[in-house]
Amino acid sequence: MRRVVMEKLQPGMVLERPIYARGGRILLDKGTMLKESYIKRMVDFGVTHAYIFDERLSDLVINDIVNEETRLRAAELVHKAMDDIRLGAELDSVKTKETVKGIIKQILTHREALAYLSEIRIAGEQLFHHSVTVAVYAILTGINIQYREENLLDLGTGALLHDIGKSRLPDRILHAKRPLAEAEIEERERHTLYGYEIMRENGFNLMVAHVAYQHHECFNGSGYPRRLKGDEIHEYAAVTAIANIYDKLVNGLDEKRLPPYQAVEYITAHAGFSFEQELARMFCTNIAVYPLGSLVKLNTGEKGFVIHIPKNYPTRPVIRVIEDSLGINYRMNFPEIDLLKELTIFIEDIIDWE
Ligand SMILES: [Fe+2]
Repeated sequence: MRRVVMEKLQPGMVLERPIYARGGRILLDKGTMLKESYIKRMVDFGVTHAYIFDERLSDLVINDIVNEETRLRAAELVHKAMDDIRLGAELDSVKTKETVKGIIKQILTHREALAYLSEIRIAGEQLFHHSVTVAVYAILTGINIQYREENLLDLGTGALLHDIGKSRLPDRILHAKRPLAEAEIEERERHTLYGYEIMRENGFNLMVAHVAYQHHECFNGSGYPRRLKGDEIHEYAAVTAIANIYDKLVNGLDEKRLPPYQAVEYITAHAGFSFEQELARMFCTNIAVYPLGSLVKLNTGEKGFVIHIPKNYPTRPVIRVIEDSLGINYRMNFPEIDLLKELTIFIEDIIDWE
């Protein structure tokens, strides 16, 4: 299986993962052979890439640390929570906690794997999927810090609902496609306070509510709404802030999408400024900067697929070479390079990420 961007999809390719549409409905199922008309439909639905069968990688099994079904269900929960708040109904805190427990359980069973979540991008639902991804990354970091189960549950619940306050923003601000006026920016920033109020009104504990309140605060005091700094910011919120920025960069929620290794570079570069240094380090050690199945270019000029990532050394995977330094393709007997052993060889770039 490998990840192929939309522009490179061709009729005849076979899907190895379903393509999802609104509400988690399956648009095209696993095993479907693509046709021109399917590809056009995927473009219409805003799909950006797909996971495709590739003979050269037929032995490669890619398991997300949290499976797509669980993530889709969690995204639905966030969606419903936001609708409920808009309608003046209550949040279902029991169901929320059960969902977060389910996510924690899956992460714990895959704790040897590095974090990569194949993006589920569904037009109009990015915010909900983003919330789930932030929760997954926050929990992973919490596990790294050796939080106990109840701490993980609070951290994960806060992270999952960190933007719940957005349900109190008017559509003209929430969905604005134009630069906002100053007063509107202030209103948008108030989603943090609204989030805190909503969480408290619905019986969530203070620490969970503070994730919503403080997830835009920065380590150096340049954040909002209260310009808290250093350890004035609760650790759950500080972890969620890193996960939030990371996923925004990788999934391009604000601007251009970055490949994971560039987003990790961003987090590392801002450690000590926007983010607390040690938390930023803890966060980054879990990320698969070159995800399994991605195509990379080496400094030798060779190109190949990432087929194994050693724990703790995410930048030194094993590469199955498919093209030599002269640009000639191997047809069989693909050489493999273990970057943990070949110390002069390194990855220059991910190819065809966008
Ligand atoms: Fe936010």
